[in-house]
Amino acid sequence: MASLTLCLLFMLVGFSLSSDHRQNLSGLCIESEKAALLNFIQGFNPPARFTSWRAEEDCCKWKGVACNNRTGHIHTLDLRSQNSTDFLQGELRDSLLNLPYLTHLDLSLNDFRQERVPEFIGFLKNLEYLNLSNANLRGRIPYQLGNLSKLQSLDLSGSGYTLRTDSLDWLLGKSDLRVLDLEEVDLGDVVNWLDTVNRLSSLRILSMSACRINLLPASLPFANFTSLEILDLSLNHFNSPIPDWLFNISHDLVRLNLTRSQLVGPIPNAFGKLTSLTILDLSKNSLTGEIPPTLASSLKELYLSDNQLKGSFAKRIANLSRLVVLDVSSNLLKDIFHEDQLLNLSDLRMLDLSSNNITFNMSSTWLPPFQLDVIHLQSCRLGPKFPRWLQTQKGFSSIDISSARILDAIPHWFWNLSFNAVHMNLSNNMLTGKIPDFSSKPNLSVLDMSDNEFTGLIPQISPNLVFLTLARNSFSGPITSICKSLVASNHLSFLDLSYNILSGPLPDCWKHGQSLIVLNLAKNNLSGGIPSSIGHLIHLKSLRLDMNYFFGELPSSLKRLTNLFVMDLGENMLSGKIPPWIGESFVNLMILRLHFNNFSGRIPSLLCQLKHLIFLDLGRNHLSGAIPKCVGNFLTMASIEAVPSYVYDPYTVYRKDLLQTLIRRDRVRLDWKGRSSLYPLVLYPYLAVIDLSMNQLSGEIPVEFTRLVALISLNLSHNNLTGAIPSTIGALKDLESLDLSRNKLSCSIPPEMANLSFLGSLNLSYNNLSGKIPPEGQFQTFEASSFMKNEKLCGLPLKNACSELLYEDPQCRVKNQQNMEREDQDHDELPSFYISMGIGFITAIWVYWTVLLLNESWREAYLKLLDKVVEQILVTAAVSGARLRTKLEKLVSR
Ligand SMILES: *[C@@H]1O[C@H](CO)[C@@H](O)[C@H](O)[C@H]1NC(C)=O
Ligand SMILES: *[C@@H]1O[C@H](CO)[C@@H](O)[C@H](O)[C@H]1NC(C)=O
Ligand SMILES: *[C@@H]1O[C@H](CO)[C@@H](O)[C@H](O)[C@H]1NC(C)=O
Ligand SMILES: *[C@@H]1O[C@H](CO)[C@@H](O)[C@H](O)[C@H]1NC(C)=O
Ligand SMILES: *[C@@H]1O[C@H](CO)[C@@H](O)[C@H](O)[C@H]1NC(C)=O
Ligand SMILES: *[C@@H]1O[C@H](CO)[C@@H](O)[C@H](O)[C@H]1NC(C)=O
Ligand SMILES: *[C@@H]1O[C@H](CO)[C@@H](O)[C@H](O)[C@H]1NC(C)=O
Ligand SMILES: *[C@@H]1O[C@H](CO)[C@@H](O)[C@H](O)[C@H]1NC(C)=O
Ligand SMILES: *[C@@H]1O[C@H](CO)[C@@H](O)[C@H](O)[C@H]1NC(C)=O
Repeated sequence: MASLTLCLLFMLVGFSLSSDHRQNLSGLCIESEKAALLNFIQGFNPPARFTSWRAEEDCCKWKGVACNNRTGHIHTLDLRSQNSTDFLQGELRDSLLNLPYLTHLDLSLNDFRQERVPEFIGFLKNLEYLNLSNANLRGRIPYQLGNLSKLQSLDLSGSGYTLRTDSLDWLLGKSDLRVLDLEEVDLGDVVNWLDTVNRLSSLRILSMSACRINLLPASLPFANFTSLEILDLSLNHFNSPIPDWLFNISHDLVRLNLTRSQLVGPIPNAFGKLTSLTILDLSKNSLTGEIPPTLASSLKELYLSDNQLKGSFAKRIANLSRLVVLDVSSNLLKDIFHEDQLLNLSDLRMLDLSSNNITFNMSSTWLPPFQLDVIHLQSCRLGPKFPRWLQTQKGFSSIDISSARILDAIPHWFWNLSFNAVHMNLSNNMLTGKIPDFSSKPNLSVLDMSDNEFTGLIPQISPNLVFLTLARNSFSGPITSICKSLVASNHLSFLDLSYNILSGPLPDCWKHGQSLIVLNLAKNNLSGGIPSSIGHLIHLKSLRLDMNYFFGELPSSLKRLTNLFVMDLGENMLSGKIPPWIGESFVNLMILRLHFNNFSGRIPSLLCQLKHLIFLDLGRNHLSGAIPKCVGNFLTMASIEAVPSYVYDPYTVYRKDLLQTLIRRDRVRLDWKGRSSLYPLVLYPYLAVIDLSMNQLSGEIPVEFTRLVALISLNLSHNNLTGAIPSTIGALKDLESLDLSRNKLSCSIPPEMANLSFLGSLNLSYNNLSGKIPPEGQFQTFEASSFMKNEKLCGLPLKNACSELLYEDPQCRVKNQQNMEREDQDHDELPSFYISMGIGFITAIWVYWTVLLLNESWREAYLKLLDKVVEQILVTAAVSGARLRTKLEKLVSR
């Protein structure tokens, strides 16, 4: 940047002198160097910024070029792009070698299309500054860079691990090197990185963030990089304690970043020795013990979040009077804060004490010495009265006082506090009263008021709101006012008004809601038909209208919602046929719930095209006819195809009660880091549920069901099904619950069912089953009620013993034989590749899309949660953490 301004300055000077000194200036550029540059630029598709590079002009006046004003030699070439429209794209030509006096070369932020770092750069002997960051280069870093003996600054960051090296020895002897940035260079194979770096005695800034380094040596025989000011070793896989040498290398250390580098053990007392330290980031590790009492008083930013730190600490920060940022969230800290502990912190702007066990014991007249920008006190004990001191904080942009045990009405002044508020989370308290109109909060983009006791009408929202939840309160009245909000806002993507007592019909104004991604109106008293304008919500991924009084048929405009993942219309009074287009339109649908409505007619076989379905509930309707045989096409349930990506979001959680049944408790350990986790809602693609109970379905149970090996629950009870239970049902190894009761099933219970070792609940009662109950496996643990009212069934746990000569209907045997053959053939058609992916294949978490629309800080918060989920998966799946994480982050940041 500096060089660019410098260069612009040169040009300005040049212009102001232009009339008198034209010949002299045009003479400055050296022809051979001009030719070299013109040749170099022909390697690219030069973007518009190179229009100034005209052969007839003085090349020293070209944009990005600077010459020595005496000799005319080019010393600076700054071709860094400003934005994605002015990327250089193409090949790097060695004509640069004709610029022998080049000292400054910046090619960052361009797209060299996965070329290698050219070796010829090693011959640009005078280079002092080389910046190749974010330039889409790949391959091994050429050792020839070691020839650049005058180098002071080298930046190879941002390659996304495509650059690598197996040795850093080429850096030896670079006694002038002050800045070295190797972020995202793969150093996984370098053995002695620390020894090499330690010899760079002029080094001021070192970044080896995300370099896949596994080894952090505990000791260092001598410390030689004593000029270090900034050290960034974040995002590596050290798996070791914070080493002692850190405290000897440099007394000038100003910034230290060790976030997410798998550090264990305590935070050493020796941090007190680093008396120049102003920024310390140790967040997202597995550090234990207490926060040491000796932190340097020079600290301005302290990040210790997401560790396992415990004990009290308020006294220990009381003297860090320069603190601007204090983030100790998500630890096991336990403390009571008094006014005097915060007395000295007058510079504090960000305070994050969330997710600990911290009580705020402030008098109602407390005047804090600080004005906070970020107030994150989630799950701190602030109540029961609404904290009065907040009234002094007039400029915050983000406030989270959720789960703070406040049992009070929100005072009026609170709503007028911050004009700048962007993010407000007051959820999960017992706040009462009405919520005022938000239309005058221009910056507000996230508002979470869920889980309180608010009453009254739903408020008017602000035009820039992206995320709104008022769920689980007592809002009442019609929701027609939402139309005004939808018209006013172009950004609303998440709207959750569920679990209130809203009433009246759905307004027909959804054509204004096109930015919506999640619409949740479940469990209210809404009634009437589903208006056809809902078909305008073409970006919708989750639609929940369940538990209301909607009636009538589904409007055909719904078929335009082709992005739906979740559709829950259960527990209404909807009627008509289940439209076959559901199967054709909703290609991503994972959850379909039409439970307890008045749908009639057959189950359309087009429904089987929903290959990603993991939850299908059509129970308690008036469906008739046979179950389509194509159910085997639910490929995700068959563990053949993983879900494309899957939704995990703390706010969009589908239905805790339902989803929790999808979680295999014995596989997902929910206590991570000794805390029982609040994030149990990780969906595994291989846990699936089908409920077709309480209809009038007839015919046989399609043997294709037994392909759906991901099923944990199958309920076909209360129908009119006939024939035998398919003997291949033993393939459903994960089945935990099977209900086939109250049908007309006949023949014997297939002995293969004894293989279902997870089966905890079985109901076969009220059928015509016959023969002996299999005497082995799970079967002996069930009560007699599981089998009752099957007249010809015998053996334990039923009272009637089996007679010696068991009669078996010959019809039954033939059927079973046929079933098995059919299954075998079907299996042959499956590519073996798919089968081998099978269970345990984690496509990862469901990345939730709203996040993409939210601002940075919100995304950060989201990533934090994502971290937790990933960690959780890691506990169970022993997948390479970094790889999975990186993948997820890429998804999120895309
Ligand atoms: C060119 O520079 C020389 C000194 O380097 C100076 O004497 C001469 O006047 C300049 N020519 C013009 C046209 O300004
Ligand atoms: C020439 O460059 C040197 C250092 O780069 C600078 O100090 C000097 O002022 C410059 N002279 C002119 C006439 O621009
Ligand atoms: C990109 O940067 C160039 C200058 O390098 C500028 O002309 C152009 O307007 C910028 N484009 C955008 C979209 O910012
Ligand atoms: C290299 O360039 C990038 C931007 O392209 C910049 O952010 C970074 O600070 C530069 N590195 C050095 C060491 O100047
Ligand atoms: C450049 O470096 C290579 C490898 O380190 C070395 O073999 C070669 O002699 C060097 N060339 C020059 C001109 O210094
Ligand atoms: C340590 O650095 C000094 C210069 O500060 C240098 O003279 C000495 O050789 C270095 N020692 C090692 C082992 O690199
Ligand atoms: C530490 O590094 C991480 C990852 O590179 C970065 O996101 C974070 O902002 C850094 N922390 C500080 C305090 O700069
Ligand atoms: C928090 O601390 C209080 C009092 O010290 C204790 O009663 C409570 O159980 C703790 N809560 C948690 C969640 O650890
Ligand atoms: C059940 O099926 C039988 C024929 O198998 C039919 O006679 C009967 O009406 C059906 N009952 C219902 C409730 O659909």
